[in-house]
Amino acid sequence: MVVEKNVPLQPWNTFGIAARATSLVRIHSVSDLLRLREQPGVSGAPFFVLGGGSNIVLTGDVKPLVLKMEIKGFRLVEETPKAWIVEAGAGELWHDCVAWTLRHGFPGLENLALIPGTVGASPVQNIGAYGVELQDRFDSLDAVDMQTGQTFTLNAGQCGFGYRDSVFKHGGPSVSVDAGDSRNMGLAGRAVITHVRFRLPRPWKPVLGYLDLARRQEESGIAEPDALQIFDWVCDIRRSKLPDPAVVGNAGSFFKNPTVSEDQCRDIIAREPRIVHYPMPDGSVKLAAGWLIDACGWRGKTIGKAGVYEKQALVLVNRGTPADSVTGGEVMTLAKAIQTSVYERFGIRLEPEPVVV
Ligand code: EPU
Repeated sequence: MVVEKNVPLQPWNTFGIAARATSLVRIHSVSDLLRLREQPGVSGAPFFVLGGGSNIVLTGDVKPLVLKMEIKGFRLVEETPKAWIVEAGAGELWHDCVAWTLRHGFPGLENLALIPGTVGASPVQNIGAYGVELQDRFDSLDAVDMQTGQTFTLNAGQCGFGYRDSVFKHGGPSVSVDAGDSRNMGLAGRAVITHVRFRLPRPWKPVLGYLDLARRQEESGIAEPDALQIFDWVCDIRRSKLPDPAVVGNAGSFFKNPTVSEDQCRDIIAREPRIVHYPMPDGSVKLAAGWLIDACGWRGKTIGKAGVYEKQALVLVNRGTPADSVTGGEVMTLAKAIQTSVYERFGIRLEPEPVVV
C-alpha cells in the first residue's frame, strides 16, 4: 500500500484551490481499506475521504490521511417487474453512472445528469436537481467502519436523508453499526462508502415538473419525451446556468435554499413581493437562496479572487488562475459577506452547502 506524501490537491477539487495532502492513499477496493487499517497509526486516526472534490472548500493543507476513492465498476444487480437495481463503485464519476444506466436501458437518473462529483459522494449530501433527489432512486449502500473494520449495508431509512443531508455529514455517538440502528447516529469521520445501489422504478415515469424543464418541454413541443431526451435537456439547462468546473472553478450551489415557517414567509412576502418561494409538503416554505443573494446585488461581484457567478448568484467561483488561485480563506470571506448582507436585509441565515475543510 503506497502512502503518497505532500500531494497537490489542486487538480482534485473543482474549486481549483491550491492545497496539499500531507499523506494520501488511493483506495481501489474494500480490501484496500481493510489492509489500510492494519497499518500502524491508521486505525482510530482521523481521515478525510476525497471523491470528486466537487463539494469542498479547502482552507489549508489537509493534515488527516486522505483516502482517494477509486473503487470502480457498474453492474445490474437485479431486475424485477417493479425495478432495476444497479450498483456502482464509489469512485465512479456520478455523471458516468447516469450515462451508463441510460445506455444500458435503465432509466431513472436522467434528471441528475451532469452533477459533478463521484458516486460515493452522492448519498453523503443526497444530491438533487430538477425535481429528483438521490433518496428517490436509492436502494442501499455498502460501507466500511474504519473504527471497527466492519463492513455494513445501510438502506435509505438508515442513511437519514434530508435536503442535502445524511448521517454521513454528521459526527455522533459511538453506536455499534452492527445493531443496524443508525437513528441519531453520525457516521462522518467513521464510515467510508464503497458501493451504492440504485432502485430505478419500472415502468419508468418522466419527472418534468421543475419549471426550467417544463419550459423546455413546452418549447420543444415533445409531448412524451424519453429518458434520453430529458437527459439532454437537463445537460443543456445546466450548461447554460452553471459554470463548468473544468473552465471556472466552483463547488456548485454554495448555500442551501433556506426553509422558513409560513408566518415568516408571509412577513417576508409583505416586504418583498417578488421573492421566489416554494411551499413544502410539511407547511414550511423554501426560499430560493440564489434570488436572495441576487436581490442583495451580489451577482457578478468579486472580492479578492473569489466571485459570484454572473448567471447564478448561488454559485461562488474562482476568479484566479491555476498559478494564482483563489484561497479557501477568500472564498469564506466572500461567503460571510453574502451571509451578512442577506441577514441584514431579509433576517435569514444562509447555511453553506459544501464541506469546509
Ligand atoms: N434566481 C435568481 N437569481 C439568481 C439565481 C437564481 O433570481 O442569481 C432564482 C431563479 O430565477 C429561480 C430560483 O432562484 O426562480 C431558483 O433557481 P434555480 O432554478 O437555478 O435553482 P436553485 O434553487 O438555485 C437548486 C439546487 C441546484 C440544482 C437546481 C436545479 C440547491 C442548493 N441547489 O438550485 O443544485 O441544480 O436547484 O434543481 O438546492 C448544487 O446543489 O450544487 C446544485 C447546483
